[in-house]
Amino acid sequence: MSLLVVDRLAHHFRTGSGTVHAVNGVSFSLAAGETLGLVGESGSGKSTIGRAVLRLIRPGSGRVVFQGADITSLPERRLRRLRGQMQIVFQDPWSALNPRMSVRRLIEEPLRLHSSLGAGERRDRAEALAGRVRLSAGMLDRYPAELSGGQLQRVCIARAIATDPALVVLDEPTSSLDLSVRAGILELLFALKEEAGAGLLFITHDLGTLRLIADRILVLYLGHVVEDGPAARVFDAPAHPYTQALLSAHLPADPAAKVSRHLLSGEVPSALVLPPGCAFAGRCPIAVARCREQQPALQPVGPSHQAACIRIAEGANRIAA
Ligand SMILES: Nc1ncnc2c1ncn2[C@@H]1O[C@H](COP(=O)(O)OP(=O)(O)OP(=O)(O)O)[C@@H](O)[C@H]1O
Ligand SMILES: [Mg+2]
Repeated sequence: MSLLVVDRLAHHFRTGSGTVHAVNGVSFSLAAGETLGLVGESGSGKSTIGRAVLRLIRPGSGRVVFQGADITSLPERRLRRLRGQMQIVFQDPWSALNPRMSVRRLIEEPLRLHSSLGAGERRDRAEALAGRVRLSAGMLDRYPAELSGGQLQRVCIARAIATDPALVVLDEPTSSLDLSVRAGILELLFALKEEAGAGLLFITHDLGTLRLIADRILVLYLGHVVEDGPAARVFDAPAHPYTQALLSAHLPADPAAKVSRHLLSGEVPSALVLPPGCAFAGRCPIAVARCREQQPALQPVGPSHQAACIRIAEGANRIAA
């Protein structure tokens, strides 16, 4: 049984300037212990999906099935019992933590809310958790203002794993941090993935990060899945022109490399007015007239690998190298 099944999830925001089509029929599943990378440019709907998966927002339509239970419309009271099983780490650790609580209290808080451990056990557990996220015991009596961004994010990760959750959503967990501490946090997340056996939904706009940690990758464009496949396949044989463009923008800067970079030109169209055909057609170097007429469906391109591009059928989906 899949840990998580997301079925035709859609979510639109009504705003003063119109309806924002943030998520438009996204389906995927996540197995226990698996790390799924959700990648796409800013505004592609990644955070909205992450929030809907944890029922931090109630999705407009579609279903989210967690451990076999449809949580889309579960009453808050029943949802509360599941909360310890599903956790999130946000991009910005400064605003995620209550500045008036000590690190010890911050790490103990989820245990107070979601476990029946007594005070002594909570104390021991908090110390063990601090060790797991490589925070020294001396840090436990400090307050958020006394910690660096990297240390604060370690506190957030300790809180997220405190209750041994089955699912952790990581929403850009390294992108607000200095480059020098990112690698350390990624390393830590990698170790947790190996040890904890939790399913991870890793949200990022950076494919390079996913190369290190993801088992599978879901590429989003304007709230649509354009490609979904095993990480190795997506990196080695990206089928959708958008994935190819994203990847080529991530090639290491080697002046001797004879590979051109398909840097994405043009702006992401507004999610207020979705184009009628393929959402990527306006920026796609290989788009033909038909691409603007019909919305492409996902089609298989390899084992557990699919992409939504009508040019795949003609074998014409490669953007020139
Ligand atoms: N509360 C909201 N009200 C109105 N529009 C929203 C709201 N939250 C998100 N949106 C819009 O929904 C779309 C998807 O946003 P979302 O935050 O899910 O994207 P994202 O992929 O996480 O982007 P980023 O990489 O910048 O974090 C965007 O057009 C965004 O402006
Ligand atoms: Mg986001």
